[in-house]
Amino acid sequence: MLERMLIGRIENRVLVGTVAFLAIMIVSGWVAINEGARMQAYQDLQLARSIENGAALYVVNCSTCHSSDGRGVQGAGPGLNNPQLFGYDFFPEMTQQITELNTEKKALQVERGHSDTTDARKAEIDARLEAINTEIEAVANQARSQVQAAVDMGYDPLQFSRTKNLGWVGTLDSFIFTTLVHGRPASAKYSSLGAMPAWSQAAGGPLRDDQIRDVTNYILNWNRDWTLDDLFAVRHFAVQPVDPATFVGASTEPSIAQEFNSDVDAVVAALATVVGDPQSGQTLYNGSLACAGCHVAGAGLVAPALEGTYTRIVDSRLTLPEFAGYSPEKYIVESILYPGNFLAPPAYPNAMTPNFADQLTLQKIADLVAFLETQTGPSPE
Ligand code: HEC
Ligand code: HEC
Repeated sequence: MLERMLIGRIENRVLVGTVAFLAIMIVSGWVAINEGARMQAYQDLQLARSIENGAALYVVNCSTCHSSDGRGVQGAGPGLNNPQLFGYDFFPEMTQQITELNTEKKALQVERGHSDTTDARKAEIDARLEAINTEIEAVANQARSQVQAAVDMGYDPLQFSRTKNLGWVGTLDSFIFTTLVHGRPASAKYSSLGAMPAWSQAAGGPLRDDQIRDVTNYILNWNRDWTLDDLFAVRHFAVQPVDPATFVGASTEPSIAQEFNSDVDAVVAALATVVGDPQSGQTLYNGSLACAGCHVAGAGLVAPALEGTYTRIVDSRLTLPEFAGYSPEKYIVESILYPGNFLAPPAYPNAMTPNFADQLTLQKIADLVAFLETQTGPSPE
């Protein structure tokens, strides 16, 4: 009896041992097989937490201008919960058709430019080019008529991708992240609630980088199979700046304010690294920057005259004791970027606009300086 029990116990132990061994093998095999899935689950959990944190930050910091549902506030912050931000194309067939027409157009334009293209052929090409343009408009208008409500709000199905419209080459993730880091100072001009602020602590804002990541994840989490109802729910589509100067982030060049803070000497030193083009300086001066609006010709009532600016600076301004050690370049740069630092006599009724540091890139400053340096005639004042 005792013997049988003993044997029984030993048998039991062997059995238990074998079963345990097999169980361990199976479990560890199972774990090995599922390691990928487990990591995935872990990452999903991390992402879910990040999105949750981002949602909380969003409500507090962003909903005033972008609304709590992310569909935007009319006249202020654009919709972020928005098919256009995610580049969703509701009319892929139209896009295909227009791409083909544009390809044909380009080939014809190249052919037209060849020196051996006859006048007869040129006339043929011109007729076809005109027909292509009409065709493109017709195709686009047909698409537009299907989303008229959104078109009335400033949407264009030809411009279905926000990042493409802005010439952004990176991912949507990096687009959102950088926009949050730097803000869009120039948007003050067209947002009734003020500019998109810079959020990063590095740029003087209130959010840490991990918080900016969380908010970015929250916005990205809006991506889905978009419907026309989503499109119609958007209250404000982002402004498509006509002048790229108002959208510094589109180019790889940062604004003067972003790159140099308010260090005029650093800007002047950096000017040596770029070549200013007086011609485009003149275009900026008279055109998009509207300097000429104040600096009218002749003796200035509103601002010092354009003519003789350089002569006046060298012969008159720089002889003043406060400009000891200034180069003419430094004087010009400081006048444009920080007009409040020195007020040119006589007293003018209004100060110069102070926000050019946000709008200009180093290249544009170089162009403006190059243009003003051509003003070497006599100064009327
Ligand atoms: C004071 C109003 C205001 C607040 C607050 C604000 N934004 Fe903006 N935001 C804007 C404006 C205006 C624009 C459009 C800028 C432009 O068109 O250049 C913008 C643009 C954006 C864009 C780029 C969208 C695009 O299509 O170009 C993102 C992303 C964004 N905001 C996210 C946020 C997040 C996230 C927060 C909160 C942390 C936030 N914003 C807080 C006003 C605001
Ligand atoms: C809103 C009106 C206004 C606009 C716009 C404006 N300015 Fe001025 N600017 C002034 C006034 C007023 C002064 C003189 C007071 C001072 O020095 O700030 C001045 C002074 C200057 C001076 C110094 C001239 C001197 O004789 O001492 C330069 C250079 C200058 N502006 C360049 C520019 C450029 C370049 C732009 C466009 C990017 C521009 N300004 C846009 C009003 C304007």
